[in-house]
Amino acid sequence: MGFPKDFLWGGATAANQYEGGYLSGGKGLSTLDAITGGSKDHPRMITYKTKAGQVERVNREASLPVGATGFVDENQYYPSHMATDFYHHWQEDIALFAEMGFTCFRMSISWARICPKGDLEVNEEGLVFYERIFDELLKYGIQPVVTINHFDIPMYLADHYDGWSDRKVVDYFLFFCETIFKRYQGKVTHWMTFNEINFLRSWTQIGIHQNDPQTLWQARHHLFVASAKAVMLGHEIDPHNQIGMMIAYIPSYPMTANPEDVLAALQFNRQQESFIDIQVKGHYPAHLLKQLEREGVLIKKEPGDNELLAQGCVDYIGFSYYMSTASSANPEKVKYVGGNQMPAVKNPYLEESDWGWAIDPLGLRISLCQLYDRYQVPLFIVENGFGAIDQVQDNGEIYDDDRISYFQKHIAAMRDAVVLDGVDLMGYTPWGCIDLVSAGTGEMKKRYGFIYVDLDDQGHGSLSRRRKKSFYWYQKVIKTNGLDLDNN
Ligand code: BG6
Repeated sequence: MGFPKDFLWGGATAANQYEGGYLSGGKGLSTLDAITGGSKDHPRMITYKTKAGQVERVNREASLPVGATGFVDENQYYPSHMATDFYHHWQEDIALFAEMGFTCFRMSISWARICPKGDLEVNEEGLVFYERIFDELLKYGIQPVVTINHFDIPMYLADHYDGWSDRKVVDYFLFFCETIFKRYQGKVTHWMTFNEINFLRSWTQIGIHQNDPQTLWQARHHLFVASAKAVMLGHEIDPHNQIGMMIAYIPSYPMTANPEDVLAALQFNRQQESFIDIQVKGHYPAHLLKQLEREGVLIKKEPGDNELLAQGCVDYIGFSYYMSTASSANPEKVKYVGGNQMPAVKNPYLEESDWGWAIDPLGLRISLCQLYDRYQVPLFIVENGFGAIDQVQDNGEIYDDDRISYFQKHIAAMRDAVVLDGVDLMGYTPWGCIDLVSAGTGEMKKRYGFIYVDLDDQGHGSLSRRRKKSFYWYQKVIKTNGLDLDNN
C-alpha cells in the first residue's frame, strides 16, 4: 500500500531563480531583472526610472509612479541575472536529476526568452534553448512539467501596457502559449498556467504600476481569462495536454474554538480558495462578488468572459505547500512569525524554520484532504521544502539532516492522504531541488536543494555542484516509490 506506480517524483525550479543568462541568446528583460537582492531584514527593491529620467528604488511590493519604467542599474546586484546558471549547466544538472531517479522535472519557461518584448516577435534561439532541455530530460525518461509563467512579465509589457491591467496582454500571452504548445507538442504534456496566482499582486509579478484593488482585480480577471483560454487552446492543439492551475496553499486553523476565530479562519481560507473556485469550478464565488461590491471594485468583463471561465477549467490543481498559519478574530492580540510572501500568525503547537515558516507536516495531509474533498480533481504538490543554511564540511560533505527530517514527515503525511484518505495525487516536486535564489529575499543562503551550488548572496562562487546528504536519501525514496523514508 503506497503511492501509485505512475506517481511522478521530481523537483521544481523557476526560470527567474535558476536559469540566469538574463540577456543571452536574444532574451528580453523581464520585470524580475530589475529586482535587487535582499535579506530577511532588507526587502528586495525595484530599480526604476521616472518619466523625468530620475533613477529611483522602491520596495518590490510597492506601487510605481505612473510612467515609470524598470531600470537595470549597473551598480546594483540582481540575482536573476545569473541565478544558479542553469543556462550553462543544464546538461550537468539534468544528469544529476536523472541520477536521483526523477521521473518528472518542474521548470518554467521565461516569456521574455521566447518573446523578448512579450509581443508577437519570437526568438528562435530561446525556443531552441528549451527544446534541447526537454530532449535531454526525455532522454532520461524525465517528464517535463512546465509552468508557463512564474512570477514575472516581459518588462516591455509592464512599461508600455501597465502589465496585466490591459486586456491586450491576454492576447500576447495567448500568442506565447500557442508558440510553445505547438513547438513542444509531443515533448511536454504537463503544464501549469500561472505560478501561485493568488500571490500575483504588484509590478514585480504582473507589471501593474498601481496596486489599488480596482487595478489589481482587473488584472486578476485578465489572468483568469488568459488561463481559461490557454487551457482551451492547449487541449485543442494536443488533447494529451494536461493543464493545471497553481496556487500557494497556506491552510489556516482557527486560533481557538471560539466561533469568531473559526469565522476568521474560514474567511482566510476561502479567500485563497476563490482562486481555485474560478479556475476549477469556472466562476467567481458568491462571497468574492460580495466583497468586490463592498470594496467598490467593478471588474470590466467582455461579453462571453463568464462562458470562457466556465469552459476553460483546469485539469488539475497544482499547489505549493510549505507551512500553515492560524487566524484570530483579534489579529492585534496574536504573535506573528515569518511566512511565504507575508507574515503568519504564530501557532504555539508548531516549530518554525530559521526564516520563521511554521513546520507542519500534518497540515499537508489536511490540505490534501480539504482540496480533494472540495474539488474532486487530481492534485499535484508542485512545491514543498525547507529553506535553510547549509554548512559545507571540511571534507566537502553537506549533512542536511534537518532537511531530510522535514521531507520524511511531509512525504509520510502525503502518503497517508493517498493511502488512508484516497486523495488522487499525481506527483511531488520539492522546491529548489537544486539550490537557487530565494524569491522572497533574493538570498542564496536560504537553500532548498538536494544539490548544493557554490554561490553566495553577492553572486560570488564557482557555481560548482555538489550532492548533499539529502540527495542520496531522496534517491532512495524515489527508488522505493516513497516506501523507505529512513535516514540511514
Ligand atoms: C513559492 C514560489 O512561493 O515559494 C517560489 O513559487 C519560491 O518561487 C518558494 O522560491 C520559496 O520561497 P522563498 O521566498 O523561500 O524563495
